[in-house]
Amino acid sequence: MFRSLALFALLNAAWVSSIALVPRSNAAVAHVAIPGETDIVNSPDAITVLVTCTGNNLSGSCVTWTSQTLPVTCTSVVSAGQGDLINSAQSSSGIECTLFSGEDCDDTSVLINGTVDNLSTVNFANEASTFSCVSN
Ligand SMILES: *[C@@H]1O[C@H](CO)[C@@H](O)[C@H](O)[C@H]1NC(C)=O
Ligand SMILES: *[C@@H]1O[C@H](CO)[C@@H](O)[C@H](O)[C@H]1NC(C)=O
Ligand SMILES: *[C@@H]1O[C@H](CO)[C@@H](O)[C@H](O)[C@H]1NC(C)=O
Repeated sequence: MFRSLALFALLNAAWVSSIALVPRSNAAVAHVAIPGETDIVNSPDAITVLVTCTGNNLSGSCVTWTSQTLPVTCTSVVSAGQGDLINSAQSSSGIECTLFSGEDCDDTSVLINGTVDNLSTVNFANEASTFSCVSN
């Protein structure tokens, strides 16, 4: 009886410590909102964090990125078909995002805090591969 209790306690302690190793974070990866389709991941209360577009002035092909929580951790634009194709971007009010040229939110970067209608002006046209966002 004591043996099995001790074993149980040991297993329980191991379980607790393995849980404790999981980083506690509210961070989330942003998802693409596809107009006209129900996005189960984002329902019911996802907000738009960032819009990225292939043209200047938020024109061309645009992707709306949504998340239920902030911060938004490193998110790739490549799977949305925008790798090295973004020319303008707009973060939502109260949110600032960073575009990165590297695939792991590394290498060169530019802050998007509001609207940047021409990423050429900051030498970042057709450069972004990933982004992250925080509250500003
Ligand atoms: C982003 O914009 C907000 C609102 O204009 C401002 O309060 C904040 O300081 C800006 N953040 C940075 C890093 O420029
Ligand atoms: C964005 O649109 C405004 C108003 O039409 C225009 O004046 C400006 O030149 C445009 N900027 C870019 C980068 O296309
Ligand atoms: C965007 O910025 C670049 C670099 O400043 C400039 O050469 C180009 O004319 C701009 N494009 C528009 C549409 O304003």
